[in-house]
Amino acid sequence: MRMVDIIERKKEGKKLTEEEISFFVKGIVDGSVPDYQASAFLMAVVFRGMDEEETSYLTKWMMNSGDVLDLSDIPGIKLDKHSTGGVGDKTSLSLMPLVASFGCKVAKMSGRGLGHTGGTLDKMESVPGTNVYLSEEAFKKQVRDIGIAIAGQTSEIDPADKKLYALRDVTSTVESIPLIASSIMSKKLASGSDAILLDVKYGKGAFMKDVPSARALATLMIKIGRRLGKDVRAIISGMEEPLGKAVGNALEVKEAIATLRGEGPSDFVELIENAGAILLNQGQVAKDLEEGKKLIREAINSGQGLAKLKELFAAEGGDASYIDHPEKFPTAAYEFEIRAKEGGFVEEIDSLSIGHAAMLLGAGRSRAEDNIDFAAGIYLEKKVGDEVAPGEVLARAYSNKEAVKEALAEIEGAYVIASEQPPLLPLIREYIEA
Ligand code: URA
Repeated sequence: MRMVDIIERKKEGKKLTEEEISFFVKGIVDGSVPDYQASAFLMAVVFRGMDEEETSYLTKWMMNSGDVLDLSDIPGIKLDKHSTGGVGDKTSLSLMPLVASFGCKVAKMSGRGLGHTGGTLDKMESVPGTNVYLSEEAFKKQVRDIGIAIAGQTSEIDPADKKLYALRDVTSTVESIPLIASSIMSKKLASGSDAILLDVKYGKGAFMKDVPSARALATLMIKIGRRLGKDVRAIISGMEEPLGKAVGNALEVKEAIATLRGEGPSDFVELIENAGAILLNQGQVAKDLEEGKKLIREAINSGQGLAKLKELFAAEGGDASYIDHPEKFPTAAYEFEIRAKEGGFVEEIDSLSIGHAAMLLGAGRSRAEDNIDFAAGIYLEKKVGDEVAPGEVLARAYSNKEAVKEALAEIEGAYVIASEQPPLLPLIREYIEA
């Protein structure tokens, strides 16, 4: 078999066999397929696509390119959740402790932020002492002992995705539904859980720009998971504006804590209640979504979710006193106010611009090796639908850098003010079960 023939066949829009796909994946990992051929192949997939069967084979071979975690010796249903990413998405930090507080087993591998998107691991590290790199044994022990672990993926998991994702990033081949689906699902399936909830984002700040393409991605990922016997479900939720009000690492952890205290912003609470209800149903704690939502609300009111978040940080070496005393998180040296030039209603807040501005303030990385300033970020005082008076504060920016003119201009430009209140769409547009 020759890689050039496989590229040629995909270029002509032909369907590839499992043997051809496994030849490509193995070649990526052992180096026998050079980057220029891998890149040409990826571009052919971007233009010609792959059907469900080809994508399933690609996922299967990527998943098996490294270690596949076996969690079967941990009693109970092991749950995982994945968001396709966005701005202000601190969901895992509020949601997973709530779910674990009912005795469900949460085994979650997370990632870091890059570009305009944030990553759970960076957010967690804003609590001093937190070590997100657990060995496989430590990860499993923690899931068994306290019911929850959120950790970085070890280098042994899905090396094919690491290689392919890095290539896609620099060859403009990220935005392809079969490539995104196989990338996400191969990692999720390699981390060993039984049930997975996918939060597929759509909108300006997301990979999928509209609901139909988010639905296509979600449906494909569900089918791939089901072929391998997993209970995979999905919600499609908006990333037209940032999620919640806080964007930036420590600011987002503080918002996650506030949410577990019953003081969360309404869009974020809506997401937590709905996603939590689905996960409790997948974990066989709630018989349906109504009961699930009720349980999640109770767990917020009783503080049991907050107690579990403290346990999670303590288990991973973090100073859990920060959870009781969020005022301990470092604050930035400079605070800037972005004020409305005119009155009206907030019609739009471009998440991509807010994410990019947060990165410029120091909250994110433009290159993988960049350092993060945990205190930097943006707090959105006004969200879509809110009324504003001329001169009122729309948002606050925090940074340890004084010269942040470009970031401030970007935040200002992200807000669109209209004379009439815009129609408000529900945050969660769809729930896809099968
Ligand atoms: N997240 C992933 O893990 N992979 C993609 O391809 C896109 C988003």
